[in-house]
Amino acid sequence: MLQRPRRNRRSAAIRGMIRETRLSPSQLVQPLFLVPGKGVKTEVPSLPGTYRWSIELMLEEIDACQNLGINNFILFPAVPDELKDKVATYSYDPQNFYLQAARTIKERFPAICLISDVAMDPYSIDGHDGLVGEGQILNDPSLPILAKMAVAQAEAGFDVLGPSDMMDGRVGYLREALDAAGFTQTGIMSYTAKYASAFYGPFRAALDSAPREDADIPKDKKTYQMDPANAQEALREARLDTAEGADFLMVKPALNYLDIIALLKYESELPIAAYHVSGECAMLLAACGNGWLDYEQAMPETLLSIHRAGADVIITYFAKDYAQRVHDGRLKY
Ligand code: PBG
Repeated sequence: MLQRPRRNRRSAAIRGMIRETRLSPSQLVQPLFLVPGKGVKTEVPSLPGTYRWSIELMLEEIDACQNLGINNFILFPAVPDELKDKVATYSYDPQNFYLQAARTIKERFPAICLISDVAMDPYSIDGHDGLVGEGQILNDPSLPILAKMAVAQAEAGFDVLGPSDMMDGRVGYLREALDAAGFTQTGIMSYTAKYASAFYGPFRAALDSAPREDADIPKDKKTYQMDPANAQEALREARLDTAEGADFLMVKPALNYLDIIALLKYESELPIAAYHVSGECAMLLAACGNGWLDYEQAMPETLLSIHRAGADVIITYFAKDYAQRVHDGRLKY
């Protein structure tokens, strides 16, 4: 036999030399759930190891992450119901607890990249990413609300904004609003191919942001998030977001959509981010918790696979834990 592929797998040294994909903590984004108040640290039941923090405890968590090499964070607010309304007014109140927290975080950690979601759902009493009117999600009337939210977030010091609402034309609309307000350096990580997925459950439970149950409110997000059956359509979204000024393209979820990640990586010049969403992490944690999978191996293999498929950036609830393992020498990349 002239060809023996196993020769290159003979030792850890050889495998390390020819490894095609390496995932460094610098490529990971840690999601953080913020709650108002003081002294709050409550675990998300379906995501053991993920917490909802009040700001002063979150600062400690960011410090710990940064010491492990995690420099990128995406922040989400859990807004009490009494602060929600139909038009997400609270989202652009400069004194709201989320924007105040962002200011505190950036003051304390100026070197980190702080990312914010832009969508109405955490602030909307209807629980949708856009404005609900006459039983529909209204596209164009949602844009000025999202733009006010985006400018308020840029003012508070967020470095990169992630429109996750999937309204048509929002990337260009936000880019123009940010530029007009003088925030030419605030980036846009567009949720380009965000699918109407069943895997956002634990996130919606953590933020209490699921669509409200009411006969007049659409009960799912299928008229704006993409159909899981479609790939071509992701190319169209990517082309539009690129033309509208996006700085990153995101695919979400990650694992069931590795083909979409690979497709966009191949087709686009922009960095590709993948959101390894709450349900995907919960699934792995549940199997590991039952002793059916070995977490030590399954978690890094999962993140590596997302990177191998073409994601330059991975948003994952395992970011800190991955970095911890690299730091302790338990994980080599
Ligand atoms: C809000 C938003 C969602 C997620 C990120 N931003 C939920 C949704 O669209 O319903 C999901 C993230 C996760 O599941 O980890 N638009």
